[in-house]
Amino acid sequence: MKGKICGTGAYVPQNRMDNDQIATFVDTNDEWIKERTGVEARHIAGTEETTVSMAVMAGKRALANAGITAEEIDLLIVSTTSSNLILPCTACEVQKELGANRATCFDLSAACTGFLLAYNTALAYLNSGVYHTALLIGSECLSNLMDWKDRGTCILFGDGAGAVVLKGTDGDMYFPVTHSDGTKGEALTCKSRHDWSNLYDDSGASAMQDQMHRIGMDGQAVFRFAVKRVPEIIGEVLTQNHMSKEDIALYVLHQANKRIVEAVAKRLDEPIEKFPMNLQEYGNTSSASIPILLDDLHQSGKLHEGDKLVLAGFGAGLTWGAVIVEW
Ligand code: ACO
Repeated sequence: MKGKICGTGAYVPQNRMDNDQIATFVDTNDEWIKERTGVEARHIAGTEETTVSMAVMAGKRALANAGITAEEIDLLIVSTTSSNLILPCTACEVQKELGANRATCFDLSAACTGFLLAYNTALAYLNSGVYHTALLIGSECLSNLMDWKDRGTCILFGDGAGAVVLKGTDGDMYFPVTHSDGTKGEALTCKSRHDWSNLYDDSGASAMQDQMHRIGMDGQAVFRFAVKRVPEIIGEVLTQNHMSKEDIALYVLHQANKRIVEAVAKRLDEPIEKFPMNLQEYGNTSSASIPILLDDLHQSGKLHEGDKLVLAGFGAGLTWGAVIVEW
């Protein structure tokens, strides 16, 4: 049994914040951000928009695109690191809104690799015959986790959600390749909201409160990790599945940074045209970036029946992985 993506959907907030707007509250400028990251704008959730509401919208669109009802879904996974809820999980809230009454629902947290791991998890279930039709959503409201005074991070990220419907079909599944290295976790962190008791000094409220829920990053360490590990793992997934670069129509990479994507293309000696990007418009939306990009490509007619794609995710943990998808 292998997985077939038969519908995609996405949702990004209407509120668009370009680089000039960011430059009104931190010391930066459009030229620097574009040159170092490729990002020109990001979309930021309004007061009514949450990780749940964006996931619901993306999920509804994916179901409509697949031409199926919510009742047909028997597995619903939401990948997120920025849920507006601790309990219940985001996936159950999405289930309620969609009316996906038959679905088993849970969240998966693995930052920017999260969607890829949600895809692999669903694939394993489909392949074993436990479930047949899965709705996979990556949804992030990273603006809630930003330190908007830190120009090293706030320029990079955006909010949004993307979704795919994955069905089991006849055929052998492509084997995914994934890795994790917890010893390098300090490169990208966001302190837990469960740690309040440790954050107070003798005088009561601590300056560390300012760091709560805020993303901290060693940008250069993340950059070095990505440009080394992503080409490696793409090579591994091709070898594992007895394929070569010539078999691949497009590489759909997590949209972290234009320079990372360009470096991966260069190391693989593949033309940059095979690496579609939309980070210019949305910034880095973590686990939502791959499904949002898939939806962009699908809606604009850039994916053709039988095309083989490599999806590759990488990020906090550290975690990284790649999988082959046949369209
Ligand atoms: N605007 C203007 N200047 C800035 C900004 C900014 N937004 N941010 C940093 N600078 C300055 C620094 O202060 C420094 O100035 P100095 O030379 O006077 O000290 C200078 O620019 C260079 O700073 P660096 O941190 O060395 O900049 P670098 O070239 O490494 O670029 C960046 C920073 C863009 C974050 C880069 O390290 C990067 O792309 N890293 C990858 C991180 C990433 O993609 N993270 C995404 C999350 S993880 C994931 O999704 C996989």
